[in-house]
Amino acid sequence: MAKILVTGGCGYIGSHTIVDLIENGFEVVCVDNNSRSNPIVMENIQQITGKTIKNYKVDLCNFDETFAIFQENPDIQGIIHFAAYKAVGESVEKPLMYFENNLYSLINLLKCVQEFSVPWFVFSSSCTVYGNPDEMMVTEETPLKPAASPYGYTKQMGEDILGEFRKVTNTQTILLRYFNPVGAHPSIKIGELPVGKPQNLVPAITQTAIGKLPMMKVFGDDYPTRDGSCLRDYIHVSDIAHAHTLAIQYLKEARNESSCEVFNLGTGNGVTVLEAIQAFEKISGVKLNYEIGPRRPGDVVAIYANNDKARQRLGWNPKTTIEEMMETAWKWELKLKEDASLHENPNFQMN
Ligand code: WQD
Repeated sequence: MAKILVTGGCGYIGSHTIVDLIENGFEVVCVDNNSRSNPIVMENIQQITGKTIKNYKVDLCNFDETFAIFQENPDIQGIIHFAAYKAVGESVEKPLMYFENNLYSLINLLKCVQEFSVPWFVFSSSCTVYGNPDEMMVTEETPLKPAASPYGYTKQMGEDILGEFRKVTNTQTILLRYFNPVGAHPSIKIGELPVGKPQNLVPAITQTAIGKLPMMKVFGDDYPTRDGSCLRDYIHVSDIAHAHTLAIQYLKEARNESSCEVFNLGTGNGVTVLEAIQAFEKISGVKLNYEIGPRRPGDVVAIYANNDKARQRLGWNPKTTIEEMMETAWKWELKLKEDASLHENPNFQMN
């Protein structure tokens, strides 16, 4: 059974990926310093899978502590690297904190990958690397534009670092560019735990609907889209998680054509903000209290994925509809209301 190290495994996509890896026969160890995640997630993963996962509470910016994890687990065959800060707005206010955290951690990790000759490395990238594309639908060959935030730059630089790293090692790498991950695991035992006031659309919708927020704003309805609001490719977090398992299997079976391959992880369907709200209202029966506000600086007007490459090469088949995504997101919000233990980690602090 191949052992996979998941960094940031207590986080939103990381936790869902650990569940999927276990369900597909992999052994998993986790490293997460819980600076922005709740350690209780490990218990919830255990409830879903029946497996107890070891989490090393280590900051990957600490090289010695990171190296010690590999000394203890020399049989790590693959790494899926999620651990990073990802709040776009915060990155604009604190660029150095983002470059330091997101890049130092990656470089420390890759030093260990090189020292221990780890065969497979999957990097958590993002559609944010496309910036504001000329065409709404992007393929992996779409030229990258300047990122809209320091966060986006850390993802572009992360991809560049890996592009050079793979030339000096035998490690096979994959870059997965997520579009907009939303929803919660069907068991409703794990889901998104926003840090502070939610920046992202779906938690803003569900927190408004449940009364945690008095009202939400639609950031602009005067864009050149079919209803004036921004268009995105919302993708269920479980579909994203399964793509990671498929990526590891792809490398394990040596089906990759080069030592650094990129895949878009989106549904291929564009949904506007107003359409997402309508889908939520339809499944929840809740009339959402929102108003149209000014545009949000840095927002991309419209982007959605051409996902043919992941379908054809990874055998990935995302099938969750926007209504189903909203359904699990809403059930998760209702669960959070009844179970305070799932709430934010009391040690949470936005640095
Ligand atoms: C979506 C749309 C907002 C909140 C995110 C992450 C980024 C990357 C991709 C991981 C936009 C609008 C939002 C609200 C709103 N993920 N909106 N009212 O900006 O596409 O990027 O996913 O790598 O890190 O930030 O997602 O959910 O913030 O916004 O109108 O209260 O919803 O303007 O048009 P975004 P988002």
